[in-house]
Amino acid sequence: MNLYPLIRLLLFKLDPEEAHHFTLHNLQLAGRTPTLLSIISAKVEHRLLHRQLFGIDFPNPVGLAAGLDKNGDVIDEMGALGFGFVEVGTITPKPQPGSSRPRLFRLLKDTALINRMGFNNVGAEVAAEKLKRRKSAVIVGVNIGKNKETANEDAVRDYEFCFKTLFDHGHYFVVNVSSPNTPDLRALQGKESLTGILNALQDINQSKANPKPILLKIAPDLTNQQIDDVISVVVQTKIQGIVATNTTVSREGLSYSALEVEKFGAGGLSGTPLAMRSTEVVSYIKSKMAANNASFNIIGSGGVMSVQDATDKFTAGADLIQLYTGLVYEGPQLIKDINMNLLKQAKG
Ligand SMILES: Cc1cc2nc3c(=O)[nH]c(=O)nc-3n(C[C@H](O)[C@H](O)[C@H](O)COP(=O)(O)O)c2cc1C
Repeated sequence: MNLYPLIRLLLFKLDPEEAHHFTLHNLQLAGRTPTLLSIISAKVEHRLLHRQLFGIDFPNPVGLAAGLDKNGDVIDEMGALGFGFVEVGTITPKPQPGSSRPRLFRLLKDTALINRMGFNNVGAEVAAEKLKRRKSAVIVGVNIGKNKETANEDAVRDYEFCFKTLFDHGHYFVVNVSSPNTPDLRALQGKESLTGILNALQDINQSKANPKPILLKIAPDLTNQQIDDVISVVVQTKIQGIVATNTTVSREGLSYSALEVEKFGAGGLSGTPLAMRSTEVVSYIKSKMAANNASFNIIGSGGVMSVQDATDKFTAGADLIQLYTGLVYEGPQLIKDINMNLLKQAKG
């Protein structure tokens, strides 16, 4: 039985960030009572759902997007809910509080969120301890970023520090240069900065017996020319893929008045209004990949709110998908519905 519509009634009475903490706290409690967790679980297990990508066996292609479990507090619980993989972070070298509150808003009419969290997290060293303590074998991606006060010229050191500190604790890593909430971060998507950061991480990889897959998370607000540059850097630095996309700074197509939109303030928009653009980016990358004889993987993220949205992402070329806002609005049943549909398709 899908209890989420009832749970959502309660959650949506709370301030969005309070609802977030309430949910994480209760998930942790539920995690200690396996019968309780099994009631809310939306796990679908089948060999036909497995995906083999960059040397990792993903039990299903539906993952939790970065930002919900910033510090790796509910990895096991998210795995038990049914996600095929859990991306934690963004984690920065030093702990930081993030932006001042309020910094998370629900746009109910558009089934969307706006956030300007600003990489609030416990920092790489504490996060490494938390990641170490997980008990299950769920696939973990570690999303890394730079501290707010680190200048872009020095950003490479932040990414190196995070990669080294967290290296042993993640199955794959995501370089986040696309959050709109850290001033100038997105400028690191430029060819030169990007090449510097990714080569530095690949150098660390070279010194390891078992290098870790690295992916790059990009903004949906890049132009085609900028995406072309990103693709050439991905190919040249031989990283494993792209997460497309992060939240958007666009406010196009919202059902709110200009004044209301302005009141929400700055931040990244996620959910339904982002779906089409991020799918378009996946599709564009896929077409360029074919044209360039390149082969890397794409994780599709942005506005997966329904089975159809998931199908659109896979059709556009995503190998795996992730959700955040869809989980807030639809609950874990969405993971199950997507996987059941994939299974139905796979069985013909
Ligand atoms: C509250 C919130 C916080 C987020 N924090 C991060 C983050 O720290 N790092 C990151 O790479 N993406 C972050 N994201 C972006 C999501 O990972 C995802 O890419 C984006 O929300 C689009 O997917 P969705 O429409 O399913 O939410 C955040 C999103 C939200 C809503």
